[in-house]
Amino acid sequence: MDYKTQINKETLPQHIAIIMDGTGRWALQQNKDRLEGHYKGVQVVRNIVETAGELGIKYLTLYVFSMENWSRPSTEVNALMSLLVKTLEKEIEMLQQNNVRLRLIGNLDRLPSAVKEQMQAGEAQTSKNDGLQLVLALSYSAREEIVQAAKTIVQQVQDGKMEIKDIDESRFASALATKDIPDPDLLIRTSGELRISNFLLWQIAYSELYFTECLWPDFSSEEFYKSIINYQRRERRFGKISKQL
Ligand code: IPE
Ligand code: IPE
Ligand code: MG
Repeated sequence: MDYKTQINKETLPQHIAIIMDGTGRWALQQNKDRLEGHYKGVQVVRNIVETAGELGIKYLTLYVFSMENWSRPSTEVNALMSLLVKTLEKEIEMLQQNNVRLRLIGNLDRLPSAVKEQMQAGEAQTSKNDGLQLVLALSYSAREEIVQAAKTIVQQVQDGKMEIKDIDESRFASALATKDIPDPDLLIRTSGELRISNFLLWQIAYSELYFTECLWPDFSSEEFYKSIINYQRRERRFGKISKQL
């Protein structure tokens, strides 16, 4: 099937967010170490970043590592941290050449300093690029992000920069890590799990959700196109009725 030709270029989702799940299970199914799944997963990230850029998607947010993932066995956590460093080292030129702007959300202070520094250097280095914005959620917890935003707002009120009556959704959203990034239109989760796992809770209020059984290391451009076609067949009513749209 050639799914790409079925995509309507006029109604592309502006922002796609992905919960890249199932890399460990993919490896175990083949009697391999879980890490082999993560290595394959990185190749898939590379391909999906390229595919998204080619299609003209403006924002791609990837759930790379959750706050809860810190509780995994330390061997897996350490291996993932070094994989992050190696991957960014290897791919930073590709990001530059493709005009990709790298952005980070999450509690970076919990990352080993080498990882944090390198990630932030990548963010600075690509900050002028105006092609695809690649947002990596690293050491990320949506609830923590919301609590942080509440603290920021309280501080602004205490400092006399804002009045309580002026707090509204838009001001609150501006205190989140995703300020100036539009909400995801489409949220994809691979591996068949039907949950959000503390990802972008505020931002996905009206996102279209797409769940696929496909494990992340098997997620191809074709699977990506399929999710976009599925999204384009839906009617986003935002509370209205069809006739009003
Ligand atoms: C998601 O895949 C990647 C990370 C959380 C780093 P998993 O590692 O959760 O893979 P499964 O869900 O155990 O198969
Ligand atoms: C969510 O996957 C986090 C990432 C994909 C980075 P998990 O595998 O950690 O989530 P749960 O444990 O199944 O909810
Ligand atoms: Mg998982």
